Amino acid sequence: MPALVLLGAQWGDEGKGKATDLLGGSVDYVVRYQGGNNAGHTVVVGDQKYALHLLPSGILSPGCTPVIGNGVVVDPAVLLSELSGLNERGVDTSKLLVSGNAHLITPYHTTVDKVTERFLGSRKIGTTGRGIGPTYADKINRVGIRVQDLYDESILTQKVEAALDFKNQILAKLYNRRAIEAGAIVEELLTYAEQIKPYVADTTLILNNAIDEGKVVLFEGGQGTLLDVDHGTYPFVTSSNPTAGGACTGAGVGPTKISRVIGILKAYTTRVGAGPFPTELFDKDGEALRTIGGERGVTTGRDRRCGWFDAVIARYATRVNGLTDFFLTKLDVLTGWEQIPVCVAYEIDGKRVEELPYSQSDFHHAKPIYEMLPGWSEDITKAKTFADLPKNAQAYVKALEEMSGAPISAIGVGPGRTETIEINSFLS
Ligand code: IMP
Repeated sequence: MPALVLLGAQWGDEGKGKATDLLGGSVDYVVRYQGGNNAGHTVVVGDQKYALHLLPSGILSPGCTPVIGNGVVVDPAVLLSELSGLNERGVDTSKLLVSGNAHLITPYHTTVDKVTERFLGSRKIGTTGRGIGPTYADKINRVGIRVQDLYDESILTQKVEAALDFKNQILAKLYNRRAIEAGAIVEELLTYAEQIKPYVADTTLILNNAIDEGKVVLFEGGQGTLLDVDHGTYPFVTSSNPTAGGACTGAGVGPTKISRVIGILKAYTTRVGAGPFPTELFDKDGEALRTIGGERGVTTGRDRRCGWFDAVIARYATRVNGLTDFFLTKLDVLTGWEQIPVCVAYEIDGKRVEELPYSQSDFHHAKPIYEMLPGWSEDITKAKTFADLPKNAQAYVKALEEMSGAPISAIGVGPGRTETIEINSFLS
């Protein structure tokens, strides 16, 4: 049975929640392997809409064990509030597992995130302000606090003091802020310890055993390929690895255990925050995509920047993730355009370029070269098979598939759980 990775092939917000939830019924474990509550999944189940930020979307599927892997950064206050929010709506969350090695986002990480952005001024990244970058920075600097530290008060105190010794110098001397008191942070963290304890587990052992036993394990990436700290549009990226390799390090499973890597690809493109975006639209088409597509961030409430589909990016995602399939989402949003432009290559300094340039300066200068594809006006939300789609919608999907370098195995034709056309099963 397969171990699948499901990740965003663009800049995030491709509709991963729907894809994971669609598979949820047949999946035994859904694992988050990076990021934190900067992610935002909207999952629609029946007439209920759930907005999740930290919890894996599989938490809504009975029978599925949701896992927060070691590569995730966990804000304990957010974790507990998402859990109690779901419990109030009758969702059983008792199966959740949280890695003892996951790092904790503390109030000083969110403070540092916000003051750093303010300090950067016009050069800011446009972070979600959730403390993600500073928490990963502490992890790499070896001054992070892990979930397991909550269960040894003396170690926790030493670690918080060590982290704050340095940070308080920066906060006070550079940012002119009041120093943060270690004792208050320790006290706050300890209030979460007992509530989180039932979920804490050796998740790498459990997941490797599950794969060996033939269980279906789904690794769910947050953000997207172009927001990857190594392979994205650095520095306008998040601070972790949403790309496929991140599933291995962020969950503690070897690459030989992964059988399929599925890229979620929106039928157009969006991005939140700052950074280059060659197909971005500033006209009524961009506004229409934003309105029809409901392109407003689940986590921050910010309007998303919108543009046409970019095949250069899709090809790049296929390459750096080793994608075996695509799940094309939100095709219905494109209904009604007479012609739909698709970016097939870039023009950079007068030259045609087919692949994503590795140079940041080149990418900033990239101008999209468009091919016009004929649109359709029929409602496609009731389509159950590929053949139910209007001919032009079929041709649009086929053209994207050819340009993007991997088969499109599922198509989202509406926001509801059942509004999906399955072409090849991800579980075969
Ligand atoms: P951070 O992850 O909060 O540090 O933000 C870094 C960049 O990633 C910013 O441009 C954010 O807008 C973007 N970002 C973070 N999480 C998401 C997401 O789930 N979807 C889309 N963009 C995101």
